[in-house]
Amino acid sequence: MKFLSATLALASFTLATPSLQGEPQNDLSNRQAGSWPFGPFVTSAGKILDTAGKNIVYAGTNWPGHGEVMIPEGLQYQSIEYIATKIKSIGMNAIRLTFAIEMIDQIYASNGQDITIQRAFTQALGQANGTRILNQVLAKNPQFTTSTTRLQVFDAVAAELAKQQIYVHLDNHISKGMWCCSGNDGNTWWGDTHFNTANWGRNWTGLVSIGLRNEPREPTSNPSLRSSSYNWQSLYAFHKQGASAVNKANPSLLIFLSGLNYDTTVAPFFDGSTLSPGNTRFSLVDFLGYENKLVLEIHNYETGINSCSSLQYNLFNKGFKAMTNEARTQFPVLLTEFGFAMDASTWRGTYATCLASYLPSQKAGWTIWVLAGSYYVREGTQDYNENWGLLTRDWRDWRSQGYIDGLFRGMVRNSLA
Ligand SMILES: *[C@@H]1O[C@H](CO)[C@@H](O)[C@H](O)[C@H]1NC(C)=O
Ligand SMILES: *[C@@H]1O[C@H](CO)[C@@H](O)[C@H](O)[C@H]1NC(C)=O
Repeated sequence: MKFLSATLALASFTLATPSLQGEPQNDLSNRQAGSWPFGPFVTSAGKILDTAGKNIVYAGTNWPGHGEVMIPEGLQYQSIEYIATKIKSIGMNAIRLTFAIEMIDQIYASNGQDITIQRAFTQALGQANGTRILNQVLAKNPQFTTSTTRLQVFDAVAAELAKQQIYVHLDNHISKGMWCCSGNDGNTWWGDTHFNTANWGRNWTGLVSIGLRNEPREPTSNPSLRSSSYNWQSLYAFHKQGASAVNKANPSLLIFLSGLNYDTTVAPFFDGSTLSPGNTRFSLVDFLGYENKLVLEIHNYETGINSCSSLQYNLFNKGFKAMTNEARTQFPVLLTEFGFAMDASTWRGTYATCLASYLPSQKAGWTIWVLAGSYYVREGTQDYNENWGLLTRDWRDWRSQGYIDGLFRGMVRNSLA
């Protein structure tokens, strides 16, 4: 989520560097080709295919878990089962589950020991509020105790989503647990303060894909980094490293590649142009052995646009062309973030109605921003009310029932038809 006007106070600390080398290989024993999710998925030109050869389209939403607490949001208000049932009730089939690398790094740095949710809540919200919110989480989700760890909560979310046959896409959303994204938040670019490549969730039945990095963007507060490496050539090099590391750790996953400028375009990866400032081009040969695992993702927040054909033109040329034979290299493409205020009328505007018809017409997957009603804390405000959230503040009802009934259900249905 791009949020340019945010003023972000940054603690500066250095995180340990996890290495994927020497990690246990994925235990694939629970993934049988003949049962849901019919993985591992592969790509074929512009399509994602399951083991039955069915074209898989994601129609889902983002469930944030990358905030300061580094635990999936909403659990002080509702149970995991309630939230998953809500997603399923209108037919959504995928969750883009965001996490902060900071959590993974902390665990590596303490020899595999994660912290308890008790500590996570009190560290992020203070002793009094942290304890109060923890108690609400435990009341709503009685399978947890004060000694449950953060990763065990992610495991429980993944297990419930699998139970309800909802695919999980893991998104490496940010390095340090906090609201994302701005140009000066220290999380912008490889080599910036907190970035690292990692992977986990290997034993989640429904985990089918992972995004290497959310919204690569200009490190505006780090001019030397910007001038030395904020370009397509470097992004490509980082994606090659990240894709190789992920594929070694978990060869079953689809790997999503993002683009520059807050991931608003991936054109140089599919149109055959040189990757500036160098002269090389995207080549599947650079991904030998897993070239059928690569997917492109873009984001779009042109919420004020008043021409559907302009929006379609932008989306096509910056991304979805890659699904067609007009591309030099074909890929499946997903719009992994778009969103707008969930009030009574915004959904009737050009942006929302255009996306609701265009994405299904392209057979393109998507995950709307955002499955939330509120955040434990965002930008210093606890119990932050999310006006763009699909859910009410207490994560109970749809925030804009008009949107759900008037447009969104149909968008899900048409995408999956
Ligand atoms: C603690 O929670 C209360 C009630 O939500 C809120 O008013 C207060 O600002 C919170 N404290 C901090 C430090 O955010
Ligand atoms: C994954 O493995 C960990 C320990 O290796 C376990 O605690 C967790 O429950 C497992 N998660 C699932 C979804 O099976």
